[in-house]
Amino acid sequence: MDYSQLKPYINSNKERFLNELLDLLKIPSISAKLEHKTDMEKTAEAVKQRLIEAGADNVEICQTKGYPVVYAEKIIDPAKPTVVVYGHYDVQPADPLNLWDSPPFEPVIKKTEIHPEGAIFARGSCDDKGQMYMHVKAFETMMKTNTLPCNVKFMIEGEEEVGSANLGPWIIENKEKLKGDIILISDTSIIANDTPSIDAGLRGLAYMEVEVTGPNRDLHSGVYGGAVANPINILCKMIASCHDENNHITIPAFYDDVINYNDSDRAEMAKAPFDLNDFKKDLDILEERGEKGYTTNERTGIRPTLDVNGIWGGYTGEGAKTVLPSKAFAKISMRLVPNQNSHNISEIFAKHFESIAPKSVKVKVTAHHGGEPVLVPINSKGYVSASKAMEEAYGKKPVPTFGGGSIPIVALFKKELGMDSILFGFGLDSDALHSPNEHYGLFNYYKGIETIPLFYKYFTS
Ligand code: BES
Ligand code: MN
Ligand code: MN
Repeated sequence: MDYSQLKPYINSNKERFLNELLDLLKIPSISAKLEHKTDMEKTAEAVKQRLIEAGADNVEICQTKGYPVVYAEKIIDPAKPTVVVYGHYDVQPADPLNLWDSPPFEPVIKKTEIHPEGAIFARGSCDDKGQMYMHVKAFETMMKTNTLPCNVKFMIEGEEEVGSANLGPWIIENKEKLKGDIILISDTSIIANDTPSIDAGLRGLAYMEVEVTGPNRDLHSGVYGGAVANPINILCKMIASCHDENNHITIPAFYDDVINYNDSDRAEMAKAPFDLNDFKKDLDILEERGEKGYTTNERTGIRPTLDVNGIWGGYTGEGAKTVLPSKAFAKISMRLVPNQNSHNISEIFAKHFESIAPKSVKVKVTAHHGGEPVLVPINSKGYVSASKAMEEAYGKKPVPTFGGGSIPIVALFKKELGMDSILFGFGLDSDALHSPNEHYGLFNYYKGIETIPLFYKYFTS
């Protein structure tokens, strides 16, 4: 096969590749908000059209109980291997809107210190429309240059940012259709543009909501204050008690299933370049904080967490109102590592939280979505192929890393479809995913389009 035409084809289509992505970024496909239902459908339709134009067959919008999955395939020879590409077309809400320097769904290109060639500023530019669309353009490039060496299937979903609850049943119903050899996903990060890396694992997630009720109604905080439990005070105390002075989580049995790495594994992981001063400078903090006995990379990669994502109750409006509230609420997430299980952890969290509540309040705990942690075998054909592809494209061998985020469906790909996933991400942690001013480097976008065909090359050789 003649791969020499890949780069020239990409170079001569750069502007169109960019403009097509910008068009996709203009549709506010926020899965968390019902008001964007038609935008979600519009985005699925746009992804379908682009896959057809790129040369895919049997392109369809598959209905689920939630937002649809866009499926497409190119079967060149059933005897050849099949790469199954996964990505998501939904994005996180753009709030708080006032912190964006330009409107989140009107993409603009601006240069930054880290992205001197320019970056696309828009919600979803990195997570995940920009990274997902690299696969569509890499596929087009392989089709047009006659270099597609195997079969490919696309599965682009619309509910990743809300937990992928309907994708699980859909993949179970479509096992035959999704048959393949490897799942390829670009929805994670590399260390830096001159330091490629490939995740060897992702954390899981257990997301909980708690409600603490004190008196049966809001009270005058002077008339009753001091004699009745304040549910906000109590909730804060309960949350604070979930960590000890070493920032170790205090929930009984919480760490029972956590894999403990030995010193030589940890020494291997510590080889990944990391600069604590840069980390602190980027976040404008004087000191990092985390579980005693672990490095920053270990704290985000191989250790579980418990964090409050939101807390509310009482009066938060303008000025002051003296009130002793009836209720307090919090959303609490736990990032999980192998071999913790989200259902098990949700259960022990609920039991623990109920057990530490004083009699003066009632506690209700409910579980939101969850997802299981994953490990990718780094000696597998898929991982090694991804590593070789990046080495060829970047001129540097990628470092194995552990991603701190979660992609809930990945564990189910293994369990239900029997396939490993390759976490072939090209974004940067500093690209502000989920935050105001999310962006994606033009260098990263084009580098991804150039690197993906090399994965196909090595995976089939
Ligand atoms: N693409 C991210 C996950 C990610 C980002 C992994 C960077 C590694 C590095 C994904 O879209 C995401 O945000 N996942 C959510 C899952 C949740 C909504 C169920 C997460 O991690 O919070
Ligand atoms: Mn994502
Ligand atoms: Mn995300």
